[in-house]
Amino acid sequence: MPSEQDNTALAAIIVAIIAFFVTTGQLLQQIFGTAVGYRHCQASVIGEWATLTRRKWRWSEFRFETKYTTPNIRLIEVEDCARLTKVRLITGDLESRRRTHVTSISNPDDDKSGDQVNPDDDESGDQVGWLALLDQLHLFQENYRMKGITPNITIDRPMLEMNCPAITLRERSWDLIPPDIIRPVATSTVGDIIALAHRLGMGWSDLRPGDGIMRAEGGGRSIVSTAVRGFGVLLQFNYEPAKYDVSNYDGTVPSTPADKLGFGIIESGIGFGDIEIESTNETEAAKEVMHLLNIDRAVISKYGEYMEQSGNSLGFSDILGMWAPFMTLPGSSVVRVMKVLRDVDRGPTCSREGFVAFYLRLKKSKKEGACSEQMLYLLSTYRKLKEKWDSGWQLPMHGGRGFAASPEFLSEIRKLWSEVADRFREKHSSTSPFLFFHVLQAHRTQAVEYPVLAKAALNDTAQREKIEEGLGSSMDLEMAAGMHLYIDRIPLVVSFMKKKGIHDERLVIDTWWTLIFRAMLWHRGHDIMEGKTRGYGGIPVSPSFWGSKLPVYIA
Ligand SMILES: *[C@@H]1O[C@H](CO)[C@@H](O)[C@H](O)[C@H]1NC(C)=O
Ligand SMILES: *[C@@H]1O[C@H](CO)[C@@H](O)[C@H](O)[C@H]1NC(C)=O
Ligand SMILES: *[C@@H]1O[C@H](CO)[C@@H](O)[C@H](O)[C@H]1NC(C)=O
Repeated sequence: MPSEQDNTALAAIIVAIIAFFVTTGQLLQQIFGTAVGYRHCQASVIGEWATLTRRKWRWSEFRFETKYTTPNIRLIEVEDCARLTKVRLITGDLESRRRTHVTSISNPDDDKSGDQVNPDDDESGDQVGWLALLDQLHLFQENYRMKGITPNITIDRPMLEMNCPAITLRERSWDLIPPDIIRPVATSTVGDIIALAHRLGMGWSDLRPGDGIMRAEGGGRSIVSTAVRGFGVLLQFNYEPAKYDVSNYDGTVPSTPADKLGFGIIESGIGFGDIEIESTNETEAAKEVMHLLNIDRAVISKYGEYMEQSGNSLGFSDILGMWAPFMTLPGSSVVRVMKVLRDVDRGPTCSREGFVAFYLRLKKSKKEGACSEQMLYLLSTYRKLKEKWDSGWQLPMHGGRGFAASPEFLSEIRKLWSEVADRFREKHSSTSPFLFFHVLQAHRTQAVEYPVLAKAALNDTAQREKIEEGLGSSMDLEMAAGMHLYIDRIPLVVSFMKKKGIHDERLVIDTWWTLIFRAMLWHRGHDIMEGKTRGYGGIPVSPSFWGSKLPVYIA
């Protein structure tokens, strides 16, 4: 039988054990409590990214440090992706969603029951904006995938031209986060965020990243910035899902040259450098491009006056098709590109009337026996397209052509676009690579006079009849007159080239027809966005922001 002493000792042990657990518990709580910020990196705030949050013990400070992982969001060429092993592409499929930790996202509009929502339950309100941004990028990529664009490196080589949103994981310490910031931030760069915003259908209403000011909106989405002292530009991404349906949205071509248009940069499809447009004044912008094309100063200033008076840029506007590379991706039906200059979607090389006049004049030349082999080739190519796709191939994209977005039609146009020039170059391999450039320059110098001449020509009954030929009803005579004038002025191009020291008339004429036909093909493979230039009703974005590595944080 245990004595009273034993009982007391037992009680003491039990008390001691309880005290031990209580103090240990308190100690542990205190130690874990040293992991500052840990509770800000939970699933309610950063969704599945919370699984990457960890505590790291620091002996020297006898405390835990919170390590959280967030994405660095970028836009990369799929081609580079093979090199960059740590990059995870955002492609919109389930595997990619899993790898980027956004398999599901709570939709803030899902519970619109109108009931009082218990603030403790409504966790979506706590969520960081970059999760929604990743989700939106996935949705857009999914949409591209349905339209034939996959960044599939293994099987679909051509898609390497695609420029795809991607992330890399970045682990950071909560210790270094400023006290103003209460949620883990993702990172990106000014250049990539501007391009991604364009992709998501946003235009910039204010853009001064140097001063910490960036503001974009469009399509139910918005980005606003706040400057955080000692940290940098902090962006807030928001969207209203109810207002906007991604499935109805075509998006712009997801490739580098197409993204560059949003920054006022036109890459060259004829082997020259980029054209960069700084000015936000339409007249000045056109003059800038003409300066880059080395066009005579007197011609430029005269044309500037014409633009100011008439309010249009006809005569110059169809420069894009002559200069730019083919942007629509192979196998895809996404054809929209941003408008880089005023009226680039109008001109003799884009309109149906211009096509009709072009065909008519080529046929006439053939009858007169004035066609070279290259011209005959262009004529037969035109004829084949007309037979296969009916006269519909003459209509611009937004003219509502039934097969506008048919990948078959687009891939044929794309193939011809390169073939036309390649074939020509092969035949004349001895000629200067500057030939195309000089002929383009010569043509542009003549072409800027066409709107004025066209008006005069249309006043003249005999000339008007000639212009109306073959057009049928509903027509834009100025466009047809433009193409006729382009062709009538070939002798001026020839003499211009003679002054440059190129005396081979035949060569110059062939180059000219090839250049024009290629521009026409270009316009049938692209649909230039309507409305304001350079982006969704926003302000024109300066080329200097392209590729800008200035970091931004996304809350
Ligand atoms: C890429 O192609 C492979 C092989 O056909 C296929 O299994 C895979 O799902 C494709 N990936 C994507 C992202 O489309
Ligand atoms: C654009 O520039 C032209 C000169 O090229 C000038 O006459 C015109 O007033 C400017 N327009 C605006 C809106 O500033
Ligand atoms: C066209 O003709 C009308 C009258 O017939 C005249 O007023 C006008 O100035 C002419 N326009 C041009 C560009 O010659």
